[in-house]
Amino acid sequence: MTFSNHANTRSPATGADAAAVELYDAAIDAQLRVSTDVGEVWEATVADHPGFVLGHIGRAYLRGWSSEEPAFTEARGILADLGEPPGLDDRERRHLAAAWAYTTGDLLGAAERLAALSAVYPHDSLALAVGHLLDFFVGDAVMLRDRIGRALPHWDRSHPHYGFLLGMYAFGLEECGAYQEAEETGMRALEHDARDVWALHAVAHTHEMQSRVRAGLDFMAERRADWEDGNLLAVHNTWHEALLLLGDGQIEAVLASYDRVVAPGEGPLAALDMVDASALLWRLHLDRVDVGERWQPVAQGWESILDEPWYVFNDVHAVMALVGAGRLGDARNRVERLVRDRSAASTNIAMTTQVGLPICSAIVAFGERRYRDVVDLLHPIRRNVHLMGGSNAQRDAVARTLFEAAIRAGEGDLARAIAAERTDINSADPYTRRQLSRITAVA
Ligand SMILES: [Fe+2]
Repeated sequence: MTFSNHANTRSPATGADAAAVELYDAAIDAQLRVSTDVGEVWEATVADHPGFVLGHIGRAYLRGWSSEEPAFTEARGILADLGEPPGLDDRERRHLAAAWAYTTGDLLGAAERLAALSAVYPHDSLALAVGHLLDFFVGDAVMLRDRIGRALPHWDRSHPHYGFLLGMYAFGLEECGAYQEAEETGMRALEHDARDVWALHAVAHTHEMQSRVRAGLDFMAERRADWEDGNLLAVHNTWHEALLLLGDGQIEAVLASYDRVVAPGEGPLAALDMVDASALLWRLHLDRVDVGERWQPVAQGWESILDEPWYVFNDVHAVMALVGAGRLGDARNRVERLVRDRSAASTNIAMTTQVGLPICSAIVAFGERRYRDVVDLLHPIRRNVHLMGGSNAQRDAVARTLFEAAIRAGEGDLARAIAAERTDINSADPYTRRQLSRITAVA
């Protein structure tokens, strides 16, 4: 069976018939839309087609989204059951190798294999979507942009996925600091499909990074019906809106937004959402805002989903929650587990050694009011924090921790240097201005 024009590839698909190809197209579509039913749609690809190789590989990739170890064990089980079916073509073999790399914790290797695949098969939407997510997980801004930029010239603008590619490209441009081009590209993507929540998210980032607070809040409000439900980015986009509210000094509105959407709910918890909860409360913690009992369920939530180290970006946010909740002993234990990590997850080992451990240690030190230690831990790695993954906006929580610690440690010269650095990048940032006025006040 050959894939349809929708999937935009001429390669044969092992184990698929016309019905399976249609289901595969639907799964790719759900993935690009970050739809809440994406898991069910991928399962449907193999329900009546147990030999559909790319269906199984897609199911395995999807489990990587969670960034939690148990899902990776499940993904490896899917790939083990699949084995090495005879007759795979080059593209399928490449996908299978990338999926194994991904699910065994070699995120960098998987990202590289998918980039090589995309160079040969630039129309393969699955390779681009999974590769783009991996670039986000490893904090590779340049590849967030260029993985998509390399493929775009090969695409017909009338293809139903073209707009989604623009949305991904917009995020890559934004992470590389090309805010105007990112915004224009994201808005073009939204013309293709107003419910492209990844494109919308990219535009939200451009507002955040330039502190265009009012314009950003208007943008999110006007398009609320397009992003607020039906997709797995709803919590994260609410978090972005809350960051803009924070920039606008609307603390009560930030807390209301947190309580309504971001706080862990009754249902199953997802690390991707818990990251947002921790990150928002941590910013408030740095600003000495009383958040009441809000930390406790976040800390408990992290404990319920994290076991052995797997993705240190999650551990950083779990440690924030434990420190915020006043559970310093548990926070220190989490750091100890990172020190002892002997898992085979090679990318995470590197991330942990290079930046994850010093960041987690610094968050504990902040909780223990050892502000000079925070500075000593974070200042030497401040240019490499991207190695823990995530976006510039997310990593600003770490940058703010260093800034705040420098002020509390009485390191006025360093704090002024940091303020100058931040002002140079974004002169409109109200947070930097506020911090600067505090430094001036104590000088
Ligand atoms: Fe974001």
